[in-house]
Amino acid sequence: MIEVRGLTKRYGDKVAVNDLSFSVEPGKVTGFLGPNGAGKTTTMRLILGLDYPTAGSVTVHGKQYRELAYPMREVGALLDAKAVHGGRTAYNHLLSLAQTNNIPKRRVDEVLGLVGLTDVAKKRSKGFSLGMSQRLGIAGTLLGDPSVLMFDEPVNGLDPEGIRWIRNLMKALAAEGRTVFVSSHLMSEMENTADDIIVIGRGKLIANTTIEKFIAENSTETVRVRTPQIDALAKAVAAAGGTATANGDGSLLVQGLPTERVGDVAFEAGVRLHELSQTRASLEQAFMELTADSVEYHAGSDGTGSPSPAGPGGEADKAAPAAVGQPAGMATEQARAGRTS
Ligand SMILES: Nc1ncnc2c1ncn2[C@@H]1O[C@H](COP(=O)(O)OP(=O)(O)OP(=O)(O)O)[C@@H](O)[C@H]1O
Ligand SMILES: [Mg+2]
Repeated sequence: MIEVRGLTKRYGDKVAVNDLSFSVEPGKVTGFLGPNGAGKTTTMRLILGLDYPTAGSVTVHGKQYRELAYPMREVGALLDAKAVHGGRTAYNHLLSLAQTNNIPKRRVDEVLGLVGLTDVAKKRSKGFSLGMSQRLGIAGTLLGDPSVLMFDEPVNGLDPEGIRWIRNLMKALAAEGRTVFVSSHLMSEMENTADDIIVIGRGKLIANTTIEKFIAENSTETVRVRTPQIDALAKAVAAAGGTATANGDGSLLVQGLPTERVGDVAFEAGVRLHELSQTRASLEQAFMELTADSVEYHAGSDGTGSPSPAGPGGEADKAAPAAVGQPAGMATEQARAGRTS
């Protein structure tokens, strides 16, 4: 259990974390979401005592991190996968962590096996791809068999297989009753993984809810219909209290009526249907709308990603939120990472 109460962190004029309060519960995966610069990493650093809060408090198992006798046995955290001594082999990196935390040596082989790095255990980590480094970092978090796990954007740089592996790992850890707290700036990453989500923007809490509620509240149900009698169907839908809009590809998008009702309305009006399907607005869209006012860095029209000159609600804020893609060079990193498993 992680408890954050009135947590605030200022860096000069910059309020990185602004009066945040939330709890992260055991037995669940809790997604920590927010656009770039929202304060996710800062919050995690505060949880780990790597930074002191300007105000408020945070505890793990009711204690401040620095009061924990054997921190790695209670909290496993991965904030920066590349923050390892590159000259050390994967094995020696983990061994040094184990020995300084009174963790038996055999755990090193166990966690190397768990993350699929046994074959490269004797290789220096400076040659590791980002994906391999993420796996090594995750091995480190598991070393002390802790009941609280925290990962900062763990899927960055991973290929699809690696992403699925991390998802399953997080779910499995939560199913064992552990507290799993994982940050991301992509809702789509959390959609199939998280049980609860905490959304922040510009350091402030925007939403703290279950993923189910978030989906129910934010994805409007739309029914897609294809028919050779568009006008007749649009009229019938309007008469039944729904709204139909042309979709550009010859189909109609109906809102305000459930799928079954749209089918019945068409039948009653004698309208022939070629397709009747339910679609949902993507959660990514809902997330972008939720955090639109707190996106600090927008892609410029020239694609340079320069900071937004306008404040919230300004013209620039109406543009697409910050580009979240990775640099092109990352593709090779991902390809290499894929070979580690
Ligand atoms: N040591 C620091 N000194 C000054 N400003 C800082 C420092 N650390 C973070 N900030 C600022 O605090 C804000 C929050 O940063 P943080 O790294 O926590 O965001 P984030 O949500 O992790 O973003 P990202 O998705 O890009 O990783 C940013 O505006 C950042 O520039
Ligand atoms: Mg961050």
